[in-house]
Amino acid sequence: MTSQESAPNLTVQAEDPLEGLLLEDKSQFKTCSQIGFYRRQKLLHPDQSPYLAQLDTLKTENGIATLNIIHQRTKVPLQLQVIAVEGNIVRLKIKELSPLKPRYEVPDVLVKEPTTEREPAETDIKVQPDKSEDVFGLWKEKFGDFVDIKAHGPSSVGLDFTLHGFENVYGLPEHADIHCLKDTGENEAYRLYNLDVYGYCVYDKMGTYGSVPLLLAHKPSYTCGIFWLNASETLVEIHSKAALQSHLQSNSPDIRKQKAVPKMDIRWMSESGIVDVFLLLGPMPQNVFNQYAQLTGTQILPPLFSLGYHQCRWNYEDEADVEAVDSGFDEHNIPYDVFWLDIEHTDGKRYFTWDPDRFPDPVKMQNKLREKRRKLVVISDPHIKVDPNYTLYAEANERGYFVKDREMQNFEGSCWPGVSSYIDFTNPAAREWYSSQFSLDKYKNATDILFVWNDMNEPSVFDAPEMTMPKDAVHHQGWEHRDLHNLYGFYQQMSTSDGLIQRSGGKERPFVLTRSFFAGSQRYGAVWTGDNKAEWKYLKISVPMLLSLSVTGIAFCGADVGGFVGDPDPELLVRWYQAGSFQPFFRGHAMQGTKRREPWLFGEENTLLIRKAIKERYTLLPYWYLLFYRAYRTAELVMRPLWVEFSKYQDAFALESQYMLGNALLVAPVLDPGVKSIDVLFPGTGEYWYDFRTYTLVKGPHRQKVAVTLEEIPVFQRGGSIIPMRTAVGKSTAWMGSSPYELHVALDRKGLAVGELYVDDGYSLQYLHEHMYSHRRFTFSKNVLRSSSADKEGRYTVDCILEKVYIIGLKKSPSKVTAHCSGGKKTMEFTYNNQLCLLSLENLSLQVCADWEIHIA
Ligand code: NOJ
Repeated sequence: MTSQESAPNLTVQAEDPLEGLLLEDKSQFKTCSQIGFYRRQKLLHPDQSPYLAQLDTLKTENGIATLNIIHQRTKVPLQLQVIAVEGNIVRLKIKELSPLKPRYEVPDVLVKEPTTEREPAETDIKVQPDKSEDVFGLWKEKFGDFVDIKAHGPSSVGLDFTLHGFENVYGLPEHADIHCLKDTGENEAYRLYNLDVYGYCVYDKMGTYGSVPLLLAHKPSYTCGIFWLNASETLVEIHSKAALQSHLQSNSPDIRKQKAVPKMDIRWMSESGIVDVFLLLGPMPQNVFNQYAQLTGTQILPPLFSLGYHQCRWNYEDEADVEAVDSGFDEHNIPYDVFWLDIEHTDGKRYFTWDPDRFPDPVKMQNKLREKRRKLVVISDPHIKVDPNYTLYAEANERGYFVKDREMQNFEGSCWPGVSSYIDFTNPAAREWYSSQFSLDKYKNATDILFVWNDMNEPSVFDAPEMTMPKDAVHHQGWEHRDLHNLYGFYQQMSTSDGLIQRSGGKERPFVLTRSFFAGSQRYGAVWTGDNKAEWKYLKISVPMLLSLSVTGIAFCGADVGGFVGDPDPELLVRWYQAGSFQPFFRGHAMQGTKRREPWLFGEENTLLIRKAIKERYTLLPYWYLLFYRAYRTAELVMRPLWVEFSKYQDAFALESQYMLGNALLVAPVLDPGVKSIDVLFPGTGEYWYDFRTYTLVKGPHRQKVAVTLEEIPVFQRGGSIIPMRTAVGKSTAWMGSSPYELHVALDRKGLAVGELYVDDGYSLQYLHEHMYSHRRFTFSKNVLRSSSADKEGRYTVDCILEKVYIIGLKKSPSKVTAHCSGGKKTMEFTYNNQLCLLSLENLSLQVCADWEIHIA
């Protein structure tokens, strides 16, 4: 049966594109009990494994231990490999010894085949087989009117882990749920299955747009991770239990006591593929992030413009609209960097084209943006309108680059353009071809300020089961869609990102936003959390959602500011801008049909507040850029849950209403309406925290109600840190190239502080290939602030002034301040605020990237 025959009346047309879609309605998506392989796996119990290890087959060779295990009833043999990977990682692979049909092994996610370490490793695993009764959807599974034909029969895999002594686990995005994952209860699981869930439910375990099958477990003494490399539909059950353990009382050997030791049972289940799991053995949070980055890569260093503010709407109507909104930012003195065009900019939802009536001269439009030193992002979805006269369709069709249905015809499903086929991004040739479409000679009327947004790439198919591609669709080399579903969006973003790099002759950084993602997507750009709503609960859930993405390597993430669906009231919008300006990807977006909500449409007072939030983001860009550089170089998190930074402080383990930006800023967004104060936890014994705007001091550990007004959200700088900022803001990041810097030096209780600055040209790949960057270190110790090189290999020079230095927490007023640099020694003017212990130096003119010292006598 072709998809066309099975298409119900959900075909979406331009006039009313969302007819038939319901908000927060879960009925079009499966519950766990409607998933055949889940029901089968539930019959298995960890302590009754039907598999037997054949110890006589155990051998070790080249650091790999191999052992056969056999199903006691079916006698199907499997092979288990235990591989010690360098860097304190253990890999377990289990696959059939002689499969009837090869099983899918996820390609392209690992940056390289992991190098083996020569030490043996121990494991304690229980393998779970399939059951073979038809009620369990072994050969065929129905969901509503849709039938999934399993031509290759059942193939699920599963593995149980017990984590002793742990009570807190994290990760497994993407779910609109709390950061510290819940016990999943009896018949539920966190679902990893990329789906287009418009207006998703909050505090829910259903799968949303992307999947990273990485779970982290943390306790004060130890952090570890489980990375389950499988791209088919995956379910993860979490059960937390206290196990009673007998132990001897220390000084009386005869008395036995029972004590409850927490443990967490984790069950991973996937519909197909093999068991390929990496145990990341920590022991500290940062070690786990490094181990995961060693396998899947780090966040690509984004172009600087993409860390500014983005203005999006579905849709900006035409060129005049673009011009008016663009000018509106200047008229209202609000900086922004990127203008976004959604699907209506195309000619009938044919991507890579322009609507001739609304956008008759896209080059002129882009040139106007270029003059303003801004960029354009346009949308490019993976569904291609079935239209033989549309070159992209005709070419892909001729070359056989579309995903096939089970009868090996082009798969056709409904999406924005109506009947569409879907590019098979798993095919390297199709990816290469798609990449080439971004070259300026092919992409008509695109210029080099145009960057890309990949949407609907779960992929979204309106008339298919759960609004995604049927699992029996067929990809390159005959793999079923079920084997690789969660990789589809990953591959589109990879291909788009490659295309943008190629377009620039390998010289410039790409910027690609994707809705769907997988482990490793951090290598290709940014991710956002899809169709949220203009309601407070969605602002609130954005924080844990972004923290979960962050701990699984996806540093460049954000949520639609204002909420995509519906109309935010002014207070919500202001609060969302304030929160968004402290989240990595900062874009305002709104759905078709919502009221216009450019930042100046809510009265002068609110314009002022939004302006202030966006401007603060721009003054902090040197710090943001440094954090992204560190994320790229050393896999440090940009947005950090408190447990990462304060790994022994248990009060912080489940906290998700506040977080750290890097290691220096504590951010506590206001997430509820009408509040006059919020509860803030100041973590860390002996830590000093300074209000970022008023410099008042709070000593940790301490929990305190902090008064809030509509002006701003509470932010605190950690004592011991130095934050680089700009003194002035321009119309966009490109206007700020030469604006002066300032340093905020916040002293810890010993009077010390350290910080860094990273500078490069902001757009090219020369930092990578030619060391064209400058990475500086600032230290404050014994009353001397010193600037030195943090990386001697950096060759970039920048003529930029350090104009101001604020030393916060300096106990007494200096008698003299002198600056020493290559030009000699100079006495500096200063002011000192006794009450705040704040020393201000406001007329320095030191080179920010040179060696110098400021002595405080
Ligand atoms: C769904 C996306 O999530 C949303 O951001 C976008 O505006 C619409 N598709 C239309 O392209």
